[in-house]
Amino acid sequence: MNKVGLSQGVHMELVNKTATHSHQGKAPEIWAINSGKGGVGKTFITSSLGLTLSKLNYNVLIVDLDLSGANMHTALGLKPSHLNMRHFLDEQKSLSEIVIPTPFPKLSYIQGVWDLWVPFDLSKFDEFKMSAELKKLKYDYILVDFGVGPFEKFFNMFLECDQRIVVSSPEPTSIEKTYRFIESYICQNLKSKATPEAYHKLINTLRDFRHNVLDNPFSFKSYLKENDGLTLEPFNKLNREPLKLLINGIRSQSLMDLGYSMKSVCNKYYGLNVDYIGHIEFDNSVWQSVKNMEPVLIAQPFTPVAGQFLSICKYLADSKEIQVAA
Ligand SMILES: Nc1ncnc2c1ncn2[C@@H]1O[C@H](COP(=O)(O)OP(=O)(O)OP(=O)(O)O)[C@@H](O)[C@H]1O
Ligand SMILES: [Mg+2]
Repeated sequence: MNKVGLSQGVHMELVNKTATHSHQGKAPEIWAINSGKGGVGKTFITSSLGLTLSKLNYNVLIVDLDLSGANMHTALGLKPSHLNMRHFLDEQKSLSEIVIPTPFPKLSYIQGVWDLWVPFDLSKFDEFKMSAELKKLKYDYILVDFGVGPFEKFFNMFLECDQRIVVSSPEPTSIEKTYRFIESYICQNLKSKATPEAYHKLINTLRDFRHNVLDNPFSFKSYLKENDGLTLEPFNKLNREPLKLLINGIRSQSLMDLGYSMKSVCNKYYGLNVDYIGHIEFDNSVWQSVKNMEPVLIAQPFTPVAGQFLSICKYLADSKEIQVAA
């Protein structure tokens, strides 16, 4: 079946419910999708959030920031294109020149680097230039799928985004790495207001703590109160614009509350307000649809997973606009 034809039913239904949205004249809102562990579904989540927002009649651009084995095209059911992020990073083209249209109305994407075959030279990556160029593009939403890795440039860019989403799977391997990611996120924020000595002391203390205690979160706020050269100030911003937590791949009812538990752990121990935005259940049709080169939200628009993405988008998007138009 034709992808556009299939998408049109749900697309029109949502369009009818929601008047034309546009951030006319406004800079796009940039959502970052990141994770502590690879393979937890970032690309699937990004493609599905993008498809859902486009069905809500927003103009959406997906940016695949995977700089090695990018595969957003596969999640969208498309063949890889010659045109990709490498052309921007090699300064051959601007970002707007490497935007690729998709068969889905109002959805375009920038393909990550998939044709390199040599390690990527991160010195070519200027995160501030990329953020500045992204902000000039004429879209309502730009969704950035981050490559995994504790690279400072990725962190800097992540911090620049309007919504910062961290995806975790419910497995212990992923949960553990999600907490490590959140700790790095806090440290990176504290660094901006710390003296270099105090920052290094913090990292060494955290390292010693981890060598002795693996399971318990480190109490940043108590540490900051007792040590000079660091301030609590970055926590004000972190708590005003909280990190969003999304749990992907839930297979049983008993795991439904995991996001709330992780949120309260962050609150109680790190002193960090994390906003749990919901879960996406594990659904065999997700990987089956990837195999069939048709996104699950297009092949099965009424699957519960589609409803879960819709709730998350409505929560994150400008809910006022949606309510007024509904
Ligand atoms: N909710 C889900 N239900 C079933 N399968 C899923 C779900 N989410 C993701 N998958 C499958 O898991 C695999 C990994 O997903 P994906 O490629 O999106 O992860 P990733 O975090 O982007 O990985 P990487 O870190 O390598 O970029 C894919 O085959 C995808 O189809
Ligand atoms: Mg990916």
